[in-house]
Amino acid sequence: MSHQLLKGKKGIIFGALDEKSIAWKTALKCYEEGAQIVLTNAPVALRMGEINKLAEACGNAPVIGADVTNMDDLKNLFEKSMEHFGGKVDFVLHSIGMSLNVRKGKHYTELNYEWNAKTLDISAMSLHRVLRTAWDMDAINDWGSVVALTYIAAQRVFPDYNEMADAKSLLESVTRSFGYHYAVKKKVRVNTISQSPTKTTAGSGVKGFDGFINYAEKMSPLGNASAEDCANYIAVMFSDLTRMVTMQNLFHDGGFSFTGVTAEVIEQMEKE
Ligand code: NAI
Repeated sequence: MSHQLLKGKKGIIFGALDEKSIAWKTALKCYEEGAQIVLTNAPVALRMGEINKLAEACGNAPVIGADVTNMDDLKNLFEKSMEHFGGKVDFVLHSIGMSLNVRKGKHYTELNYEWNAKTLDISAMSLHRVLRTAWDMDAINDWGSVVALTYIAAQRVFPDYNEMADAKSLLESVTRSFGYHYAVKKKVRVNTISQSPTKTTAGSGVKGFDGFINYAEKMSPLGNASAEDCANYIAVMFSDLTRMVTMQNLFHDGGFSFTGVTAEVIEQMEKE
């Protein structure tokens, strides 16, 4: 059901790879809530062609390629988006994550540092790059809202999350630091949403993901939050209903982050 929460708003959505992507569900939700959007992803991801289906479902939204580690691509993206909208944007979703060491099977204690630098750039400093580009071009309206997606491995150890734990810590730090400056200068809000494990391409790359997602399900009083639930939360964060929220890491995890143990987990342990 639509509440037209985002009526008249315009935004850029990074990271819709396929219909499982959190960004995909978010694009559909924002469109349903009355927003106009521009979709973007890395050129190599666009070649899959899937995103064109999403663009069509979002009122023929433009699709503009941008590697998030390339400043020229980001400038072009914001320029073209502002041209298309006839003005500045109101929201940006950063839904991007990639770990080269995980992909290549390197253990955390044996990181390849060149790959690690790339991982931190794609998954964390890219938020700085996006905010910096928007800042330099004055591309976000006052009270605009930027959301990036993160995971609780930034605060607590999940051994197989590997170098992505460090990337997410950095991402959350950039959110606070840039969030401060953008709030003071332009009243632009920057937050991260810390999402439950979710079956997507990026999510499934984590070793032992099936065991992990079942464990989180049992450890969350409400159960794991789905990608659709996450899209709903993001839409609220883009709306004017949350205008005083900034520089926060917001847990969206069915209660997992504040649960010590659940009856279900204890029962499971008693079986052993
Ligand atoms: P996904 O695989 O659908 O999305 C990741 C996106 O990052 C893809 O669209 C990919 O093309 C894009 N990307 C990678 N390198 C890029 C580059 N150089 N330039 C531009 N885009 C690039 O997976 P998902 O799960 O939807 O991931 C979205 C975000 O949610 C990520 O930040 C992820 O870490 C985060 N997250 C995911 C969880 C999960 O369990 N799936 C849990 C918590 C957070």
